[in-house]
Amino acid sequence: MDKDPHFIIHSTNPLNAEPEPDKLRENFITPYKEFYIRNHGDIPEIDENIFRLQVNGLVEREMELSMKDLLEDFSKHSVMATLQCAGNRRTELLQVAPVPGEVPWHDSAIGNAVWTGVRLRDILIHSGVKNEARYIEFMGADEVFRHGENVGFGASIQIEKGLSDEVILAYEMNDSPLEPTHGFPLRAVVPGYIGARSVKWLTRITLLKEPSKNYFQDHAYRLFPPEAKAETVDWNTGIQLSELNVNCVITAPKNDSIINNGAVTAEGWAISGGKKIIRVEISIDNGVSWSNAKITDGDNPMTWSFWEAKLALPSGESEIIARAIDSEMNIQPAELREVWNFKGYMNNGWHRVKVGVKES
Ligand code: MTE
Repeated sequence: MDKDPHFIIHSTNPLNAEPEPDKLRENFITPYKEFYIRNHGDIPEIDENIFRLQVNGLVEREMELSMKDLLEDFSKHSVMATLQCAGNRRTELLQVAPVPGEVPWHDSAIGNAVWTGVRLRDILIHSGVKNEARYIEFMGADEVFRHGENVGFGASIQIEKGLSDEVILAYEMNDSPLEPTHGFPLRAVVPGYIGARSVKWLTRITLLKEPSKNYFQDHAYRLFPPEAKAETVDWNTGIQLSELNVNCVITAPKNDSIINNGAVTAEGWAISGGKKIIRVEISIDNGVSWSNAKITDGDNPMTWSFWEAKLALPSGESEIIARAIDSEMNIQPAELREVWNFKGYMNNGWHRVKVGVKES
């Protein structure tokens, strides 16, 4: 694997890996080497010369587009967008109860990139969308097995989102051709939504009346309340995830680190799906009082923001807590038990880091 040597590899088959949190915080635009990988099957080998993108379903004209068609017949657009996996920060939820069978992500299943390609809207206008079409289904080329069957990896988004300026079918990431790990030769990028809707190795777009029936839209990536149990739950009652919730992480200092002096600069990132981060607050007294961190970078609703806070910690054990607030006044909940769910999605409880300060 040509990622950073410090990458944390959760599994190799399928490949699931994330960077170290402090490495991630070094660059506002995440370099390829530090960008997390979330796969459900093997990475398919696709020959871009024989690759075709099918567009079908409730369209006036079905189409099959080659990479040459996409490059020559449609204008090129770039969007900066942060992708985050719905399972990011899952390990913290294990403090409440186990989450069996899911990747134990720490807090770096997130990355920010400039995605370049064609606008989904331009493809839709070209093929003509029938009035009754309400959803756009994306299908990837990877084989993904669930319950002994190859279900493939698919997702769907509402037509209104698909017609917005920001949804891109990307063939470049950070000005370089997309790498196989991230979806070569073409992937959907749906800014503001959970990463699972940004389908890699995209080979088909189908216009539908209803959300996709693919396993990863219809069954997985649904959010259930803390009391729901996998064995007894009615899967149809779970919310099909789309927009990310408001979240933030402290990337420095590291949890359980020992620092020499109480004067420390805490730093991290914050995000909310399609909304601006307007404030990040820090507490060092278990949430009794809060001070504002400084947002140092990022005021785009489609990307994360970076923040830092200069703190004076007393000698001994301290806990630094961070929480973010977005432009619609959404604020992170305090307790992990409020957000725990048996699939371990969307953990956005206050982020906590314990440090020891040596007597000076
Ligand atoms: N697309 C396909 N075809 N197969 C996948 O397994 N994983 C999804 C999404 N698109 C996936 C996919 C998930 S859950 C996430 S979080 C993002 O891709 C991760 O994108 P990345 O690996 O480029 O970081």
